[in-house]
Amino acid sequence: MYTGFLHMHKTAVILFLAFYFLKWIALTFNLEGMKTFFAKKSLRIFEMVISTLFLATGIYLMVNLAPEMRSNLLWIKIALVLTSIPLAVVGFKRGNKILATLSVLLIVASYGLAEMHKKRPIVNKEKTVTATTGEDIYKANNCAVCHGQDGKLMLNDAKDLTSSALSRADIEYQILNGKNAMPGYKNTLTTEQLKLLTDYVETFRKK
Ligand code: HEC
Repeated sequence: MYTGFLHMHKTAVILFLAFYFLKWIALTFNLEGMKTFFAKKSLRIFEMVISTLFLATGIYLMVNLAPEMRSNLLWIKIALVLTSIPLAVVGFKRGNKILATLSVLLIVASYGLAEMHKKRPIVNKEKTVTATTGEDIYKANNCAVCHGQDGKLMLNDAKDLTSSALSRADIEYQILNGKNAMPGYKNTLTTEQLKLLTDYVETFRKK
């Protein structure tokens, strides 16, 4: 579900950026033909649909994001998008090039931040060292980024932990060594933490 929304959000964002960039070119360089094209009813409906999709999927993703993944960068990104909307509305409506340019710059900056945010390391050694309960170890290691807080997320091709049929030994092996898109946690977990984390992962099945 989350993955579906994420793909939808990314698609909407890219369409939105491309659309606004072309609209901005038409306005900035006074390309009358292109401006008339963007003023067409069908294009205005298209614009409404992609901006709604972009915002609605964005809100869904934000609300359902694991709390440990909510970083300052994310809030800045959201603030930039929210600031750029009124600027874009007024700028394009009144043909104000400065406002329109500002709104495009804010959106592009926000997109850049989103890309930077993606490169955040998944394994967080500092927080991990101090975690002493299964739940905290799961959070500190950012397992929820792919598996979600409830184990059901399946982002980045992760498996649903609530319907996993692996034996305890296999779970431990996979946590230590990783598999495909899942990183291994050999260097971040103590033996005690691995045991607690495996207990915690097994509780997802009972929920
Ligand atoms: C970058 C994303 C990612 C992160 C972070 C991640 N996993 Fe995974 N996990 C996966 C993927 C992908 C698979 C499926 C691997 C495969 O079988 O191809 C998986 C599979 C598993 C499985 C096996 C499920 C099954 O039935 O096959 C367990 C258990 C598991 N992960 C636990 C964890 C735990 C605990 C953490 C945190 C310490 C964690 N994962 C962090 C992506 C991730």
